[in-house]
Amino acid sequence: MLTLTLNGQRHCLNHLPADTTALSLLRGHLGACGTKEGCASGDCGACTIAIGTRHDSGDLHYHSANACILPAHQLHGCHVLTVEGLPRGEHLHPVQQALVDHHGSQCGFCTPGIVMSLFCLDHDRRRRGMNGPPDDDTIDATLGGNLCRCTGYRAIRDAARAMHTLPCPVMDDPAELPETAMAGGFHRPENRHALIEILTQHPQARLIAGGTDLMLEHTLALKPLPELIDLSAIGELRHIDEQADGWWIGAGVTYHRLAPLLADHYPAFHALLERLGSLQIRYRATLAGNLANASPIGDTPPVLMALGARLRLNGAQGMRELPIDDFFTGYRCTALAEGEYLDAIYLPRLRDGEQLLAWKVSKRRDDDISAVMLALRAVTGHDGRLNNVRVACGGMAATSQRARHAEAALEGRVFDGDVLANACKAIAEDFSPIDDVRASRDYRLAAMAGLLARARYRLTSRHDAIPMTLEEI
Ligand SMILES: Cc1cc2nc3c(=O)[nH]c(=O)nc-3n(C[C@H](O)[C@H](O)[C@H](O)COP(=O)(O)OP(=O)(O)OC[C@H]3O[C@@H](n4cnc5c(N)ncnc54)[C@H](O)[C@@H]3O)c2cc1C
Ligand code: FES
Ligand code: FES
Repeated sequence: MLTLTLNGQRHCLNHLPADTTALSLLRGHLGACGTKEGCASGDCGACTIAIGTRHDSGDLHYHSANACILPAHQLHGCHVLTVEGLPRGEHLHPVQQALVDHHGSQCGFCTPGIVMSLFCLDHDRRRRGMNGPPDDDTIDATLGGNLCRCTGYRAIRDAARAMHTLPCPVMDDPAELPETAMAGGFHRPENRHALIEILTQHPQARLIAGGTDLMLEHTLALKPLPELIDLSAIGELRHIDEQADGWWIGAGVTYHRLAPLLADHYPAFHALLERLGSLQIRYRATLAGNLANASPIGDTPPVLMALGARLRLNGAQGMRELPIDDFFTGYRCTALAEGEYLDAIYLPRLRDGEQLLAWKVSKRRDDDISAVMLALRAVTGHDGRLNNVRVACGGMAATSQRARHAEAALEGRVFDGDVLANACKAIAEDFSPIDDVRASRDYRLAAMAGLLARARYRLTSRHDAIPMTLEEI
């Protein structure tokens, strides 16, 4: 049985198929049609809802999520708010009123999603006692996953700046929900032991963490997912364990929870993370899901390869560790054996003087998959030479991959113009990229040369060597 509260009202539902989305639960089963479906793929934000979870302080914290790709069963025990739940009688919620006052809605299709994204921001700021308007970066990050095709963002941003000036009704504090076990094809183990048992008993079931890749197989490719094993209720997988020389990141840690660690220790990785999907995606998706998905254009594998990350795999046969370089075995294939899952990822701490650089090239700044990615880790010695160089690329081959020739062209060398030219040639030996919808082969090689020139600038402050022409590579 799935139990949740929607806009303060409790609902218990039986016999929902495992792959039911939160959007079809809301619109089809609960008649809450204010939440819209635009793309069914997490891209447009029209389906954004607010999910409340109770924290130790007793407060409800809300985060935004894309209902179209969220498995309904992951809402078990949650407090869900949709646009219908915000007004009090005749009075609109301040977010809605600000959008009216500032003409922030035209056709209105995107509006329920924009309202819910801004509601999460407004609720969080009021909870923390923040009085002034949010700054532009915060507004942009909040709305990075909400597309509006007709109003334009000027009016919507004006509303976001004004919402704090309006009085906020006290939001209902819904009663706690019982934690009942769920039946059917949606398995929700609560510890590793139960997970391994279920994996053994149901070898055909698919693992699901945030669902931000997996659910698209259902919503876009229309593939049924009759048996799912959910990792999101396993407390043991939500740990970040600090060690002397790095951190084990559990497979259930979302990007949102990982962000502060990256900001403190890997600023380039953190900057990249801010461009991975949208806030709605980062609230639910995991690093482990990005790796297990094994897409050649996933953002994090090149960074983890440049860092020299290790992976912990677990299953009925026990735990084992693997360097990330050995994890991807082919296009969308990994070293995970049947009945095994990815348990945790080890991020080694950067040593003194070591720098990590990472950039993605995509058509849009926000909420877009990369055409190519470059990640590079190196230390520059007192003599100006690069040491311990690791270079990895995405979008250049069937898997993310180390660029061994480029590493050899850089290792032990002063990063001057000639070394840059050699590294660009070496990258063309490392990879023979394909033409596809995201970029042509030539574009990919040229972009990579540009990223290497940027790396030189970052590591040496020299920008006199401009990227090479394709003929020169
Ligand atoms: C709108 C949108 C924008 C996106 N933008 C980006 C982007 O900019 N960059 C990017 O790289 N990706 C992007 N993605 C893809 C996706 O968000 C990421 O790959 C994310 O990290 C997947 O994590 P998840 O927890 O949601 O994985 P899920 O969807 O839950 O799982 C993905 C796959 O991994 C398997 N799996 C999950 N966890 C484990 C585990 N612990 N062990 C074994 N197998 C496991 C699942 O069975 C499934 O096959 C985007 C997706 C959407 C919908
Ligand atoms: S319908 Fe577009 S993000 Fe969900
Ligand atoms: S108001 Fe029409 S898409 Fe935003």
